[in-house]
Amino acid sequence: MADTPRHPFLQGLSKHRGAPPTVVVIFGASGDLTARKLIPAVYNLSVDGLLPADFHLVGFGRKAISDENFRALAKDAVREFSRRELNPDDWGRIAARTTYVAGDYDEPAAFVRLAAQLTAIEQRIGREVQPLFYISTPPSVFAPILRHLGASGLAGKYLGQDHHAKVIIEKPFGRDLGSALELNTTIRGVFAEHQVYRIDHYLGKETVQDLLVQRFANAIFEPLWNRNFIDSVQITVAEEGGVGSRGGYYEQSGCLRDMIQNHTMQLVALTAMEPPGSYAAEAIRDEKVKVLKAIQPLSLVAGGDVARAQYAAGMTGGKAVAGYVEEEGIAPGSTTETYAAIRLSINNWRWQGVPFYLRSGKRMARRVSEIAINFKRPPGTLFAESGGFDLAANTLAFQLQPDEGLSLVLNTKIPGLETRTQPVKMSFRYSTTFGSNTPEAYERLVLDAMIGDGTLFIRGDEAETSWKLYTPVLAAWAAAGAEGLDRYAAGSWGPASGDALLARHGHLWRQP
Ligand SMILES: NC(=O)c1ccc[n+]([C@@H]2O[C@H](COP(=O)([O-])OP(=O)(O)OC[C@H]3O[C@@H](n4cnc5c(N)ncnc54)[C@H](OP(=O)(O)O)[C@@H]3O)[C@@H](O)[C@H]2O)c1
Repeated sequence: MADTPRHPFLQGLSKHRGAPPTVVVIFGASGDLTARKLIPAVYNLSVDGLLPADFHLVGFGRKAISDENFRALAKDAVREFSRRELNPDDWGRIAARTTYVAGDYDEPAAFVRLAAQLTAIEQRIGREVQPLFYISTPPSVFAPILRHLGASGLAGKYLGQDHHAKVIIEKPFGRDLGSALELNTTIRGVFAEHQVYRIDHYLGKETVQDLLVQRFANAIFEPLWNRNFIDSVQITVAEEGGVGSRGGYYEQSGCLRDMIQNHTMQLVALTAMEPPGSYAAEAIRDEKVKVLKAIQPLSLVAGGDVARAQYAAGMTGGKAVAGYVEEEGIAPGSTTETYAAIRLSINNWRWQGVPFYLRSGKRMARRVSEIAINFKRPPGTLFAESGGFDLAANTLAFQLQPDEGLSLVLNTKIPGLETRTQPVKMSFRYSTTFGSNTPEAYERLVLDAMIGDGTLFIRGDEAETSWKLYTPVLAAWAAAGAEGLDRYAAGSWGPASGDALLARHGHLWRQP
């Protein structure tokens, strides 16, 4: 596997990030995430020559299927979902090292069979392997899997040279502070923190990683990155789609749990954190936790720091679409929010007085995720005297999807004999500069976990700190029911209450 040609983007890059011999064990191997993201990620890492020479893949699930059938399912997944076309030779290299273990997630004997499978692999290749357990099941079985990994001794496997058994845990990481604490207690009873990789795939996105590079590799930003120059920060994670077939899941979740508590808070932490002492995982995660801890409790009264709403029928992409409560699997009187907007105050030296506005919603005007840094408005007096033109505030926007890139709004002179100004946008797009075949977030994250680099994963205390902020909001919304739940037309930029949240402080949502 190691001798396959490297992807052109990776040529010339250091290969020091080599992983030790690894067996990736996927729990929930027949699932949607496994097919759409995990198997294609393994395939593309293999094509790029980034998998260790002794790499193996083991699927674990309740259905009794043969190794052969699992390989056929995995091959179909690559064919359907990989960013690269299926190449039979490339696939053949992985297929030869792919097997399946059938068993229940709460059946001790199944974990004995899994351990035996790992031992058989080691005997065949004549060396020890590091297991990387990927828990890609519904959260109801996270705890039993973790406990059995502990009881079977698999979690304690140690290869020397700092290579331990590792576990990746999918989202959702709890549904409130209590359940997150409980899950962390279960994890800590079995694994040490350095073995644990709580995934938030947003952190694997190129632009999210680029945020740290832009902030700390360019001398021009850091001096301005504070309350003296920045007026406000807006983070938008908007989806154009509705709940689709995932109504049952969404009814238990809602926007705050699905997007705000995890993805947008990671973006807040990376935008607002202090420069870390090094690029090491712990140095970065320490700074992220510090800034999360500096966020003030949210005001939950009407006219406070939060707004929630549900989409009503409307138009999207030129088509009429149903409202949330008319969607499949949604209770007619559901009060689940499909939109949330939050105003955060970070009480530290750098950010005191600079609001961080977050919004996320389904069925919004278009699919876009961005972080916009709005600088203070320049004094316009000079140009006002010669024509009365309103200068725009400079905005630096990191677009995370769909078209990953960076833009800066600058005021510019309109050519002509008068001195008239107009804001213009200077843009950089990943796809134009580097080509469009960028590795997917899951490729980066699976590779990092194999290597043992936790930088782009969430530490236990980060998850707890974020839940501490939002659990009172969830409790207040549950108690209020329909009272205070606003509506917005599908295909719009959200409800009036979301706009009012900013207007109260003299701000407007930007149109991304
Ligand atoms: N799908 C996505 O795009 C996505 C994105 C981000 C995060 N996630 C997270 O990733 C995890 C897996 O997502 P998924 O969409 O792949 O889930 P899924 O398809 O519903 O379930 C994954 C697998 O788990 C097993 N399973 C399902 N229900 C179970 C139950 N009640 N008890 C025991 N096992 C059960 C099944 O495998 P067997 O029948 O083979 O045992 C199933 O194929 C979830 O935690 C999800 O929140 C998913």
